[in-house]
Amino acid sequence: MDRATRTSLFLFLIFHSDVDAANKRIRDRRPCKQLVFFFHDILYNGNNAKNATSAIIGAPAWANLTIMAGQSHFGDLVVFDDPITMDNNLHSKPVGRAQGFYIYDKKDVFTAWLGFSFVFNSTQHTGSLNFAGADPLMNKTRDISVIGGTGDFFMARGIATLMTDSFEGEVYFRLRTDIKLYECW
Ligand SMILES: *[C@@H]1O[C@H](CO)[C@@H](O)[C@H](O)[C@H]1NC(C)=O
Ligand SMILES: *[C@@H]1O[C@H](CO)[C@@H](O)[C@H](O)[C@H]1NC(C)=O
Ligand SMILES: *[C@@H]1O[C@H](CO)[C@@H](O)[C@H](O)[C@H]1NC(C)=O
Ligand SMILES: *[C@@H]1O[C@H](CO)[C@@H](O)[C@H](O)[C@H]1NC(C)=O
Repeated sequence: MDRATRTSLFLFLIFHSDVDAANKRIRDRRPCKQLVFFFHDILYNGNNAKNATSAIIGAPAWANLTIMAGQSHFGDLVVFDDPITMDNNLHSKPVGRAQGFYIYDKKDVFTAWLGFSFVFNSTQHTGSLNFAGADPLMNKTRDISVIGGTGDFFMARGIATLMTDSFEGEVYFRLRTDIKLYECW
């Protein structure tokens, strides 16, 4: 092999491994799984104890556990056990429960921090997905992290895009959750 051939072979190999790495990065950025769910939150308001799926369990000293605090609900901590459905109907057969909490953590605009799990119990899905992240809930869509999973979602990671699909005063809201997993096993 003369010197010129060796050089071009060398460059060819470098070029190819770069292209391969770039292709792999692009391929890896495509979600390996996409799922859409809805979950339904009925907040306790003083007279719906039977139907409520969530309750204020912590409030600032200037507020109480029945009515959301003023100043964008700042300081309220809500625990929930909400039904998850495949479509937007509260009365559809649930495929699992969304269980966790949200904390209102900004005084001048409605913003919460979410930490919860989807615990699946259906023929379609078993196991769980765990979520965490900031929820600037006045924004049309918000991205939170899918930080892990178990069962069908063993070691899953990705992004969940939340959208408030319906909102009735301070008693009911429905969130559409578009899940894109970028790590699947
Ligand atoms: C509880 O849910 C039922 C069925 O959806 C509804 O008819 C009833 O009005 C609800 N009760 C309260 C207190 O919200
Ligand atoms: C809770 O606070 C709301 C509004 O600040 C007030 O109207 C209500 O009476 C309070 N409820 C209790 C049980 O203290
Ligand atoms: C899961 O679903 C089955 C069948 O509907 C039910 O018997 C069981 O109690 C559910 N388990 C949980 C943890 O909800
Ligand atoms: C939410 O919306 C506001 C105003 O449209 C924008 O400035 C802000 O960056 C958004 N926040 C996030 C986290 O997307």
